[in-house]
This record gives sequence, C-alpha cells and structure tokens, in this order.
Amino acid sequence: MGFRDGFLWGGATAANQIEGAFQSDGRGLTTMDTLTVGNINKPREITFKTIDGTVHKAERLASIPEGAVGYVDPNDYYPSHVAIDFYHHYKEDIKLFAEMGFKAYRMSIAWTRIFPNGNDVEPNEAGLAFYDAVFDECLNYGIEPVVTLCHFDTPLYLADHYDGWSSREVIDFFVRYAQTVFTRYKDKVKYWMTFNEINVLRSWLQMGIHANDDQTKFQAVHHLFVASAKAVKLCHQIIPEAKIGNMVMYAPSYAMTAKPEDVMANIIYKRQVEFYLDVMVKGYYPSYKLEEFERHNITISMEENDLNIIQEGCVDFIGFSYYMSTMSTTDTSVAKTPGNNMMGYKNPNLDVSEWGWTLDPLGLRIALCEMYERYHVPLFIVENGLGAVDELTEDLVINDDYRIDYLTSHIKAMKDAVELDGIDLMGYTPWGCIDLVAWSTGEMKKRYGFIYVDVDDRGQGTFKRYKKKSFDWYQQVIATNGDVIG
Ligand code: BG6
Repeated sequence: MGFRDGFLWGGATAANQIEGAFQSDGRGLTTMDTLTVGNINKPREITFKTIDGTVHKAERLASIPEGAVGYVDPNDYYPSHVAIDFYHHYKEDIKLFAEMGFKAYRMSIAWTRIFPNGNDVEPNEAGLAFYDAVFDECLNYGIEPVVTLCHFDTPLYLADHYDGWSSREVIDFFVRYAQTVFTRYKDKVKYWMTFNEINVLRSWLQMGIHANDDQTKFQAVHHLFVASAKAVKLCHQIIPEAKIGNMVMYAPSYAMTAKPEDVMANIIYKRQVEFYLDVMVKGYYPSYKLEEFERHNITISMEENDLNIIQEGCVDFIGFSYYMSTMSTTDTSVAKTPGNNMMGYKNPNLDVSEWGWTLDPLGLRIALCEMYERYHVPLFIVENGLGAVDELTEDLVINDDYRIDYLTSHIKAMKDAVELDGIDLMGYTPWGCIDLVAWSTGEMKKRYGFIYVDVDDRGQGTFKRYKKKSFDWYQQVIATNGDVIG
C-alpha cells in the first residue's frame, strides 16, 4: 500500500530563519529581528528600549515592561538579519530542492515584506514580487509551495503601537494581509497554513503583547482564532480549490505510571494542545477550557459574531511539527529535559538529542493516531528532524548518518501509521531542509538540513551550499515514494 500517489514529500523553512536581507526592498522589522544569538546554556535575549531611551536586554521568555519598544542595536549580532541569505540564494536553493525530488516546499511569507508596519493600507510591491519569483521558481520544477502566513514574525510596529494581538484591530490588519496574498498568489499556491505552532506562541516575542498574564494571553489567542478563521473563509472564497490548515506543535504525552493520578495529569496536560485544535478544527471552545477560564477569573471579550466566525472558519487539515514526546506525572521530583518550546519530564526509556530533546520515533505514529482519531481530518507533518552539529570535512563532505537514522526511524513510524492505522496523511516536509538559524537558540551550529550552509553562529562564512550524505538518501526516499528508506 504505502504512501498515496502525489504524497507531498519535501522540506520546510520559515522566512525569519532563512531569508536575511532584513531591511531590503522595504521590509519592515519584526519582533524576531530583536532577538540576539544564544546557545543551549544561554537564552537568547530581546533588545528593547524603555521610554527614557535606555537600551535593555530581556531573556526571551520574560515580559517586556509597559511602553518598551523593540529595538535593534547596530553593535549587536542578530541572526535573522542575515540568516542564510536565502533572499539572494533562492534560485540556487530551490534548484537543490528540485534535485532531491521535492514535491512540496513549506515556507512562510514575511508579513512585513508585504506590509512593512503590518497595518499599511497599500502593500509593498517589491515584497510581493519577491514571493512571486520564489513561487515561480518552485512551480518551474513542479514543487508545490506550502505557505504559512505567519511563522512567529509579528510586525514590530504592531507590537510597539498596538500591544500586538491583545488589540482587536490587529485582526483586520492580518485579514488584509491574508486577502492580499491569497489574491496575488491564487494561481500559484494551493496549500496554506495560518499561524505556525499557534499553541506555543508567547507574550511579546510572537504575539507582541507586553503583559505576561493569562488574561491578556488568552484574549490575544482569541483574536488569533478569529483572524485565522476569517483567513480560512477568505482562502476558500478566493481560491476554492486550495486547502488551508492550522499548525500546532504536537508532542504526545505519556502518563509516567499507571497511577490514575498520572493518567489524569496527562489528560489535563494534553488539553494544552487540544484546546487549539478543538477550536480550529471542531469550531468551538471546549468545556474544559471554559471551566478553566471561569476558575481563574479569565473573561474573554468577544463580539457577537465571533463564535460563528470560528465555526465557519474550520481548517481543512492539521499541519503539525513533531520532534519529541514528553511525560506527565504528579511527582514533581522527576528530572526534566529541554524540548521544543518547553521543559518536559525526562522519559527514562528514551534517549535525548545533543540539545536534550527526547528521541521517540514511535511517538510520531502515536501523534498521528491521536489526532486522526480525535479530529478525522487529513494530517500533514510539516516539521520533523534532528538538530545536530555537522562537520564539513577537508574534502568537503558531511557524513550525517545520525540524521539519516533519525529520519529513517520516523518515516518508518509514519508509514506504519498509514499502512496499519489508516491515517490520512498528506505529506512530510522535514524541518530545515537547508541549514537555517535555530529558533530556540539562534545558533547556526544546530543544523537540520540535507544541505549544509557555510555560515557560523556569528554570520561568518562563505555562504556556500554543500550536499550532505542525507541529501542522496532523501532523494532515494522520494524517488521510491518511501519504499526504500534505509
Ligand atoms: C519549531 C519551529 O518550533 O521548531 C521552528 O516551528 C523551529 O521555527 C523548530 O526552528 C526547531 O527548533 P529549533 O529551536 O531547534 O530551531
């Protein structure tokens, strides 16, 4: 049986992690542009200014003082400003994707290339033209673009002047942006997603909000839901043949023991992601969340029609990232390990990557089963992969067998999900198909790609591209539609 005909094999990236050229052709700044480089032991910091003009650095998870504005210090190094300079290398990069046999390329549009401040009335033609060129290049090779409307990069102007998504007005700005790109690219892009990993978006950095309390956060999340639903509806109107999904970070969670308390803790833990899926796929606020809001005195202010909009804007598919699983327990003495956008309990049955992320290929099959059985919509694995240090040898090769092993085991798991569990799986676009800036640490040395880019953590290097060993391996996987994996 195997994967369906037309299975969307490919790779995934995001604008702020590859493009660079952060001020070229009228692009406006985003919250991500204020993030400095860090590493696993040192968190990235946000640079901002307070009202008296003082420049501060804040750990990226901390809240930003009222009135502070995002700032870029010309003397500091900000990885998104240069990244891998895809802006000037896209032809070469897409050619390499084509050589691997990609059927799909997941990427994001930088909102601020189209609307530099986020709320401009007219779009920036140079920004629109750039993505026209990128999509044309993909289509020339028969590669379907799969486009995320917003991958963490909230326009800085909206963060500074509207307190980001806490303001209802931002919904209209986002909808204008969505309408503009749907209309412009309706003949070129048939697969869309609204917000990347909507379930892990955090206060200022990705939502542009200054406060860090749950009341502000969930009000902003409500605005995201309405904006996403409106975009879904518009997409269906403007491009009737298109499919549009949401996108979540999915880390299946296991009860640490068979103790009922741990099983209950696990149910509660899983609601963190299910809440977002329930609203966006089923179209209503689930009872457990409404009860939780009431218990914590959280009141979501809604307009009369909001719940109808949410119901009418259900997504066609679920896009998700899968890197790792986690555990739930009531025993707080259990050791923790870092993970994707989280700290989780360390599972004694599983190994971890160099960055501490739990390695669990079967967890991917579990994730697919859990979501498919709960939501009954097609699934799309739009991120998966191993962040690792790669060595470019003197004869210019990269022997990344560890990456091949990781991906082989995950593809086997997803094949089982298709063949044994009957999951409706649309495609697989492993993360960082070309090396890019790591989101959590800002490092270049945490690499995911099939293609090595010669640039280091401080943006130094030739920017030359080299095929890794995994490049040829993945080419064969795609050519055999997943029949030959290892
Ligand atoms: C996901 C994000 O959280 O994980 C990506 O959607 C990110 O933007 C990826 O890059 C891997 O995380 P990291 O921190 O290793 O880059």
